[in-house]
This record gives sequence, structure tokens and C-alpha cells, in this order.
Amino acid sequence: MTPLNYTKKVLKEFQHPTNMGEIKNPDGHGMVGNPSCGDVMEVFLRIRNNKIIDIKAKTFGCIAAIATTSVLTKMVKGRTVEQAMRIKKEDIIKKLGAMPPIKIHCSLLGLNALHKAIEDYKKKKKEEKNNEQEKKNRREKNRREATPGAKRKTKRNVK
Ligand code: FES
Repeated sequence: MTPLNYTKKVLKEFQHPTNMGEIKNPDGHGMVGNPSCGDVMEVFLRIRNNKIIDIKAKTFGCIAAIATTSVLTKMVKGRTVEQAMRIKKEDIIKKLGAMPPIKIHCSLLGLNALHKAIEDYKKKKKEEKNNEQEKKNRREKNRREATPGAKRKTKRNVK
């Protein structure tokens, strides 16, 4: 037992955290800081067909932050973006048995970074979609201009 009465599950996750590290060129990336302690958390996502197929986290934080993030990454893998967004801090704490009240704010670090990473993914998706539409519009415009007879009527060519 530690002075803070962490559960065995918390200590196990802290000693053997999973999905730690980073993903190169992630589909979503989120970084948050905990203003009360100055610790930082980063989450990286690989998403295919709206499903989170890989997640990695970098935690510069305490035992609680590392343990909750490790559990969170396991809960998120294989879920859709919407399902991942529905995970609450209570769900994570339940998986770990309990969390000392003074450490509850640490349990939010991973979740907040995950939300930011999903926001980033959605933003990138939207930009991609807009770029595709722009390209499509440009191609259509070029095609219309290149088609004989499709020339716009101006004062000069109207007889
Ligand atoms: S004390 Fe900073 S994340 Fe827990």
C-alpha cells in the first residue's frame, strides 16, 4: 500500500503501462497540461473508417495520470470516434477500482488529450473534404472552359 492508497490495479497499470509512445504522422494529436501541477499529456491517434485502430500516449505526470491513461488507451482501441467520445472519467476509475479523491483531476488529463486529438482529427477531415471540393470545382471549371461552345457570352462575341 502506498500513502495515497492506490489500488493494486492502479499500481499495476503504472508499473506496466500500455500504448505509451507516439505515432508518426497521426490522424489526430492532442496535448493538454494540468494547470494545477504543470504535468503534460499527449495523445496520438490512427483512425481508419472512423475507427480508432491505434492510440499512443506520452505522459509527463504522476502515478494516477499514467495509470488512467494506460487504461484509457486500452478502452479506446477498436472503438469508433463517437464511442471514444462517450468515455467518462468515472468509466476509467471504475476499471481501476478506485482513485484517491486528491488524484481525480489527474484522471482527466488523458481524457482531455483524447478529446483534443479527436477534435484535431475532425478538423483535418473537414479540411481534407474542403480541399477535395475545391479541386473538384477547379476541375469542373477547367473542363467547362475547355469545352467549345461553353464560352461565356461577352459584348464582343455576341452578334
Ligand atoms: S499530479 Fe500532475 S497529473 Fe497527477
